[in-house]
Amino acid sequence: MKVSFKELGLVNTREMFAKAVKGGYAIPAFNFNNMEQLQAIIQAAAETKSPVILQVSKGARNYANQTLLRYMAQGAVEYAKELGWKKPQIVLHLDHGDSYELCKSCVDFGFSSVMIDASSLPYDENVKLTRKVVNYAHKYDVTVEAELGVLAGVEDEVSSAVSHYTKPEEVIDFVKKTKCDSLAISIGTSHGAYKFTPEQCTRDPQTGRLVPPPLAFDVLKAIEKKLPGFPIVLHGSSSVPQEYVDMCNKYGGQLPNAVGIPEEQLRKAAKSAVCKINIDSDSRLAMTAAVRKHLAENPSHFDPRQYLKPAREEMKKMYIHKIVNVLGSNGKAR
Ligand code: G3H
Ligand code: 13P
Ligand code: ZN
Repeated sequence: MKVSFKELGLVNTREMFAKAVKGGYAIPAFNFNNMEQLQAIIQAAAETKSPVILQVSKGARNYANQTLLRYMAQGAVEYAKELGWKKPQIVLHLDHGDSYELCKSCVDFGFSSVMIDASSLPYDENVKLTRKVVNYAHKYDVTVEAELGVLAGVEDEVSSAVSHYTKPEEVIDFVKKTKCDSLAISIGTSHGAYKFTPEQCTRDPQTGRLVPPPLAFDVLKAIEKKLPGFPIVLHGSSSVPQEYVDMCNKYGGQLPNAVGIPEEQLRKAAKSAVCKINIDSDSRLAMTAAVRKHLAENPSHFDPRQYLKPAREEMKKMYIHKIVNVLGSNGKAR
């Protein structure tokens, strides 16, 4: 049975993105796989009155089941209201959809936004597949994110050793032909907690920490110039907070040289046409760091609630920090 996202109290990204581009801030797109993550995201969004995008990846669907995740997102709207957020602005988004069939099934199932990631295909095939998804999704007012350019690292099952920056000369033609609502671009970000090799970085002489190379803001600028006001998306935007890496390593983890995108670069991006910033790894790190610490300090604990509670609190703290201090989306969904 088909269900519209509107019946579930969800919203699509159209108005949200238009406001964000105009207002010089970005909407957080947080991935979720489990209840504690979802609770933390909704509590953070409700407290800060920030619009929020809940993302479901292929990995999340394999882990938790797409049906269950959709009902959880539906429940999240009611939970947000219970927390006193009168008009929650929550998007349920398919992250890195890899086929027309999958995108269609999400549209039919109540998602308010889908990504078709055909960025690994030749240009013409990317256009063709994206256009097909847009044709279907727009019938139901579901918005579509597409991607041009390839991020280094693993994009679900699409992997590439090197990144291929988005070519600014292609974006006008792509958007015109596909009619996509937003465009994910490649300017040097990548997925996961190891975004750069130590060889690509320099070292801070004072702390000895790795300092990553800057993002290609010149490419972003050139794209903005070609598509004034068009919503741009940044994947792979976790900062890999060193305090979480240190906490993991202190309590038995092994995450040597994990490094992410410095927050000041994301702040700069959020002020531009970048209006959706994807964060997953930072939530994984916050959760794992808190669980490791709790179990190391309380070896007799075996009730998952005992260690998942501090994990949830740590994730919530991290989400609020992103919203308020990096993306600037607080107070934009009153
Ligand atoms: O785009 C990548 C996201 O971090 C999702 O990763 O497929 O392991 O859930 P996942
Ligand atoms: P991170 O791995 O940097 O959190 O990126 C997540 C992402 O882009 C999800 O699509
Ligand atoms: Zn991604």
